[in-house]
Amino acid sequence: MGDLAIFVLIISLQSLMCNVYCSCLNQSSSENILEDSFSFPSDFLFGTASSAYQYEGAFLAEGKGLNNWDIFTHEYPGKIRDANNGDMAVDQYHRFMEDIQLMTSLGVNSYRFSISWSRVLPRGRFGSINYSGITYYNRLIDALISRGIKPFVTLNHLDYPQELENRFQSWLSPEMQKDFLYLANICFKHFGDRVKLWTTLNEPNNQIILSHLRGTFPPSRCSLPYGNCSQGNSETEPFIAAHNVILAHAKAVQLYRTKYKEEQKGIIGIVVQTSWFEPISDSIADKAAAERAQAFYSNWILDPVIYGKYPKEMVNILGSALPRFSRKEVECLKESQSDFVGINHYTSYFIQDCLLSSCNIGVGASKVEGYALKLDRKGNLTIGEPTDINWQHIHPEGFRKMLNYLKDRYHNIPMFITENGFGDLQKPETTVKELLNDAKRIQYMSGYLDALQSAMRDGANVKGYFAWSLLDNFEWLYGYKLRFGLYHVDPVTLKRTPKRSASWYRNYIGENIRRRYD
Ligand code: NOJ
Repeated sequence: MGDLAIFVLIISLQSLMCNVYCSCLNQSSSENILEDSFSFPSDFLFGTASSAYQYEGAFLAEGKGLNNWDIFTHEYPGKIRDANNGDMAVDQYHRFMEDIQLMTSLGVNSYRFSISWSRVLPRGRFGSINYSGITYYNRLIDALISRGIKPFVTLNHLDYPQELENRFQSWLSPEMQKDFLYLANICFKHFGDRVKLWTTLNEPNNQIILSHLRGTFPPSRCSLPYGNCSQGNSETEPFIAAHNVILAHAKAVQLYRTKYKEEQKGIIGIVVQTSWFEPISDSIADKAAAERAQAFYSNWILDPVIYGKYPKEMVNILGSALPRFSRKEVECLKESQSDFVGINHYTSYFIQDCLLSSCNIGVGASKVEGYALKLDRKGNLTIGEPTDINWQHIHPEGFRKMLNYLKDRYHNIPMFITENGFGDLQKPETTVKELLNDAKRIQYMSGYLDALQSAMRDGANVKGYFAWSLLDNFEWLYGYKLRFGLYHVDPVTLKRTPKRSASWYRNYIGENIRRRYD
């Protein structure tokens, strides 16, 4: 008998004996094997995400019209931490080939970007198409595809032509549904032969809270005590705006299904912002409050989009302030169910009941947010590791719970993690060296990707993960001072330099793609 045969015999005898006598050991070792042998499905997407206003720059280049963020940042520079704007952003409009090269070096197989509405339709449906805008996106899409990177396109990520604000107050009017449909049609028509992954709108729940409830984002509408604005009504307008968004989404999905899908064979969904809401105690009241917090946040959009109705918690609390869907609209919503949902996720909160119990004033405590106070700590215990930004705590377990919650509530609908990432707040004393050595981002991403794997083992139907973000970029009210990129961007030269997290993500993708074939 040769050496090899003897070796195989010994191993077989050992494992046979172990099968009989080592059940505990077997159990744990097989569990370990399961843990270790997790593989992402072969069609899983690993990508990076971006948005037009935050990346493109090219402010009025080649026929682009003015949008709401152009006007807001120019009129009120003091509202942006560094008094800056997206006029130049990271100039992806001119540097997309270089950026695709960075994506290639990361090994991603998809790129999430959005269409600048005012670049394609400078005056919405009240003017003509800007064909230079169409050409730009065609070139971007072609360049991505030629390098094996699937375009994952968001039709609208916060920016819209200012003309639509001036004419009819944008999302407060049903007219906006018509404009959105007009944009959607043009995009499906011009790009749909190559784009197979569409989302309609980016996190309208969070956007509307900021634009129409607190009024910190344009069009700066709110009322006291929710915020300090010269116009608006925080108790009614957020729900009117969301109603129009939901119907605009449904109509765009229906358009895609009836006019384009058969030939183009793509899929379409919507993106919501999610946070995990952990009841602050085991009391029934706090548990119900955590459920209300979900109802007034992501379920606000997802329930109508998937089930054709608002969450019952919202109906009960808001009464007539919550618009109603007509019978025809309910039918339209049901017929236009999303193929998937896009999940943006960054953090978790503790939730305390303010409906039955007395509560301090704070975010979430009011009627319009469901009487569910959001807290980052319970006594001395924070919900996760705090970071430099008050709204972000590192709590991967919350991500796993969130994905399981969505899996159960929405019958395991396919999900893409359309955004997840870590922001570094740049202080006056922060050096570039420190920004490049971004150990916290690696810790954050690796924790959240582990949680994602756990959720997928639990059965969550997740199809892809997009890191926010490829590059440092214009982070809305924080300007360029809050940096989410895997690549550092120099504020003057716009030179892109890989951070440690870029090589970490490259290795992660490499290992996880390789593992599929092992
Ligand atoms: C979600 C938004 O979609 C994106 O625009 C933003 O930059 C990130 N969150 C980080 O705050």
